[in-house]
Amino acid sequence: MSAQAANDGTPTKTVDSHTGENMRQPTPNNIYELAGVRKTFGAGPDSVKALDGVDLEIAQGEFLAIQGPTGQGKTTLLLLLGGLDRPSAGSVLFDGRDLATLGESELVGLRASAFGFVFQTFNLIPTLTAQENVETALVPAHTPAREREQRAKAVLEELGLGDRATHLPSELSGGQQQRVAIARALVKNPKVLLADEPTGNLDENMRDEIVAVLERLWHERGLTLIVVTHDSTVARRAQRIAIIEGGRVSAGDRSEIGRQAAPADSLEPTFVTS
Ligand SMILES: Nc1ncnc2c1ncn2[C@@H]1O[C@H](COP(=O)(O)OP(=O)(O)OP(=O)(O)O)[C@@H](O)[C@H]1O
Ligand SMILES: [Mg+2]
Repeated sequence: MSAQAANDGTPTKTVDSHTGENMRQPTPNNIYELAGVRKTFGAGPDSVKALDGVDLEIAQGEFLAIQGPTGQGKTTLLLLLGGLDRPSAGSVLFDGRDLATLGESELVGLRASAFGFVFQTFNLIPTLTAQENVETALVPAHTPAREREQRAKAVLEELGLGDRATHLPSELSGGQQQRVAIARALVKNPKVLLADEPTGNLDENMRDEIVAVLERLWHERGLTLIVVTHDSTVARRAQRIAIIEGGRVSAGDRSEIGRQAAPADSLEPTFVTS
């Protein structure tokens, strides 16, 4: 077929011997490889280049923070990583498959199982209980009702919300609502957790609680965790910080790439109950 990828961290471009098609081989241990990614909104003089040539590799199991000024393409990038949008040009290899060209039904399948999303504003359905909100994540995968119920219950308990399962979002604190949203992302057993300003609407205590939850989950479940954040306190918890500015990603600080997560008991979050 095609040559092996180089093992020096550089993705190798090869030609498929059967089709003659250019193929990019994923480097072992990279869950994502982005090359020349562009995203333009609109056309003509009013068009916006949200991403303008992003090259980025993300290792399997990495905790990556993405920082940068407002309007510089952070959310746009996260949506591409989660298969919620496609680039205008370039490739977004996820586990060796290019999300830019993957068929819609395959993308729907990946969204239903591989990617979990957490948003700044929680995005819970106000008329559903915590338990029901978490269960909604399993509907696209056609998980049977009984299994949905059991898995949602288990993950709510894992996040310390067993006693809040029957409550509506309006009856929960901000930190608790975000934990429900994390449970909803996690109940799919995703490979990747993508969080867009997950602490942006929380006070400092709740911010620390949510960061501890994310870090514990990353540590215990071996997730790849990608967090967009303005908050340097949050970003500093990551193994690596990528900076996005002008639609391009710069390497950021890789100095802590080898950092192991702290022992699990020191990550035990203190849940704010108010
Ligand atoms: N659907 C869209 N249609 C048109 N323009 C868009 C769309 N989505 C994003 N943009 C534009 O693309 C640019 C990047 O937006 P993006 O939301 O990725 O920024 P961001 O870095 O997440 O900003 P913030 O920190 O404020 O959340 C902005 O100029 C934005 O207005
Ligand atoms: Mg944004």
